[in-house]
Amino acid sequence: EDYFRTANSLVGQRYLVTAGPTYESLDPVRFIGNHSSGKMGIAIANEVAKRGGKVELVLGPSSIEVKHPNITVHHVNSAVDMYEAATSLYDDCQVGIMAAAVSDYRPKDVSDQKIKKADDSITLELTKNPDIAESLGAKKRSDQKLIGFAMETENLLKNAKKKLTKKNFDLIVLNSLKTEGAGFKHDTNVVTFIGQNKTREFELKQKTEIAKDLVDEIISL
Ligand code: CTP
Ligand code: CA
Repeated sequence: EDYFRTANSLVGQRYLVTAGPTYESLDPVRFIGNHSSGKMGIAIANEVAKRGGKVELVLGPSSIEVKHPNITVHHVNSAVDMYEAATSLYDDCQVGIMAAAVSDYRPKDVSDQKIKKADDSITLELTKNPDIAESLGAKKRSDQKLIGFAMETENLLKNAKKKLTKKNFDLIVLNSLKTEGAGFKHDTNVVTFIGQNKTREFELKQKTEIAKDLVDEIISL
């Protein structure tokens, strides 16, 4: 498909995409992480790139290879690193897409040495990470758009709408974890797009197809 100079062309546009998990170090050999593969965010980056847009992809630890010439990959590990990269790149972008599964907390202290086994139980103290999406939402200009994702297990629509407002998103993509074959690790997902005043529900489909639907929706915004 050649999108160059078609109605769906993104030539001249720059997108910021966050993707993948974050790893929060405990000591030199251990971390707290999550099961995000980075697939959804990378599919979005590839779709934007295919349509001629430039992508700044801020990517947490992921085993997926990214190689489109329009995509610049900024590799990060922790939420704090992702925050620093994303906040400095957003100013030069027209659209931000927050597809990363960012750890909400990190260990309060990181040990220089490997933590030794001793007591029968230990307690980890965690401290809150910066909210990347919320901070970009707060400084979003009128010529910029911001898209978020929401992972909910209860009161799905209500909770997703709260996040849409709180983080100043133009659109939020609600992930369903309930359906077989959807979500983490899978190539497929079930999503609902929630905007300020309309909602679109989709069937189970490939993440690459969801990426196309999402980019079409952003263009229509
Ligand atoms: N997000 C972010 N930085 C964080 C946490 C979340 O940028 N520190 C972004 C995610 O990438 C996603 C959106 O915010 O686009 C919502 O993430 P989610 O984890 O669903 O929401 P939280 O606000 O963290 O609330 P909770 O986990 O308590 O539901
Ligand atoms: Ca969270």
